Amino acid sequence: MHFSTFNKNLESWQGNSLILGLVEGDIETQLEKIKFVIDPNLLLKKIIQKKFKGEKAKTLSFEFLDQRLENLSIIGLGKLEDIKKNDIINSLSDIIRKYVDKDEKISILLPWQLINSEEEINHIAGAARLSVYKDNRFNSKRNDEDILKEIEFLDLKKYEKINFKDTESICEGVELARRLVAAPPNSLTPLEMSIQASQIAREHGLEIKILDRKECEDLGMGAYLSVAKGSDLEPKFIHLTLRAKEPTKEKIAFVGKGLTFDSGGYNLKVGASQIEMMKYDMGGSAAVLGAAKALGALKPKGLEIHFIVAACENMINGSAVHPGDVVTASNGKTIEINNTDAEGRLTLADALTYASNLKPNTIIDLATLTGAIVVALGNDVAGFWSNNIDLAKDLKKASAEMGEELWQMPLQKSYKEGLKSHIADIKNTGPRAGGSITAALFLEEFFDNEINWAHIDIAGTCWTDKNKGINPSGATGFGVKTLIQLIRNKANNY
Ligand code: BES
Ligand code: MN
Ligand code: ZN
Repeated sequence: MHFSTFNKNLESWQGNSLILGLVEGDIETQLEKIKFVIDPNLLLKKIIQKKFKGEKAKTLSFEFLDQRLENLSIIGLGKLEDIKKNDIINSLSDIIRKYVDKDEKISILLPWQLINSEEEINHIAGAARLSVYKDNRFNSKRNDEDILKEIEFLDLKKYEKINFKDTESICEGVELARRLVAAPPNSLTPLEMSIQASQIAREHGLEIKILDRKECEDLGMGAYLSVAKGSDLEPKFIHLTLRAKEPTKEKIAFVGKGLTFDSGGYNLKVGASQIEMMKYDMGGSAAVLGAAKALGALKPKGLEIHFIVAACENMINGSAVHPGDVVTASNGKTIEINNTDAEGRLTLADALTYASNLKPNTIIDLATLTGAIVVALGNDVAGFWSNNIDLAKDLKKASAEMGEELWQMPLQKSYKEGLKSHIADIKNTGPRAGGSITAALFLEEFFDNEINWAHIDIAGTCWTDKNKGINPSGATGFGVKTLIQLIRNKANNY
């Protein structure tokens, strides 16, 4: 997919498919612009027939056999004075998706004078591209020829020399995350994840370290390795480092849960627990690797960024961990595993300890950690916890700027009680009530608490069945954009 622009008069424009944005009011004058590609009287008649006046979120689609233009979609933008960027994005997203298999190029003509900056146009462009993302890797009858390849913006005028390069890098990061999440568990194994990480390293000059089981044993990662024990697949501990050319002003570590499949282990997922969806239990690590790919291209100034994934599968065999086992994490703490399905936090325990030992200023982990967060916040909002007010602020700001919704949850200290074990320092599972909070409290035991930390539970947001907004049904790539924006905001301050 690529972006292009066309700023000449439409008389010399070549194309078949157009999306046109109209504001509420004088439709006739607004149609002037496209008079070269379609008879404006005919179009006006059809628009009046449909009683369309440019109302917000109203849309029309036409096919013409006898005009230069073959396909036209019109989106209503509402009243001039209260047009918001996000309304434009929402209408545009749902309409542009219709063009995925229709044409090679879709052109977009909006009243650009209403749009305030190159940055806003870039947001709209990024949203358009992510809305038409299509994954046909696993379809034997796929035909790559018939797929949308170009999004063209018409009549950008004062933004004639606009640069879409950063947006392209961001989209590529989100798309990588989507591909990783959607890949089935027999395709995206821990080994394959490490291969993908190596590719990012090669492509963008990041340092990479991949630790095998033996090396993790040597570091005492008993929590992580206990999860991997029941699988025939080797665990892979992945560590990418992106160093800026400039002296380091701040060191940041991103940590992602990387369960390429979560069967639950001996606490097997049964009933309505959707075991068949648990390929997406590596959504956190997908976000981290997606951000690594994008940031590798963006090269933010003055920062040293670490990307860490303890990848493995949670499976069952004769050597799998027993419910009730006690294991020792790499920071020396002992854990009673009272539920093998609370495995993500075990892998994160050692990944967070590893990150902590790098002595970063900030650690952010992302994980499809609990069903409880899905119950609490549903599928459109991710929950996050933080031990630092400024980091929480920065995260909220970054996510709001990129259209990913986060809601802060409490690190309720009184709930630590629920993680008390009779035999070990801590147990991995608390009571059902407040399950996503005790999960966050568990994580807090595994890094130096002087470090600013945030944990984002994306169990509800990393996948969608709704086909709405910028997310076609399937993997959303949630988190990538927030991580990138957090870094861009920091780098801009240096
Ligand atoms: N990967 C799951 C969490 C999950 C559930 C993600 C639903 C996406 C959708 C996690 O490993 C898990 O199984 N958590 C358990 C924890 C419980 C045993 C304390 C859960 O949420 O049920
Ligand atoms: Mn689980
Ligand atoms: Zn899991």
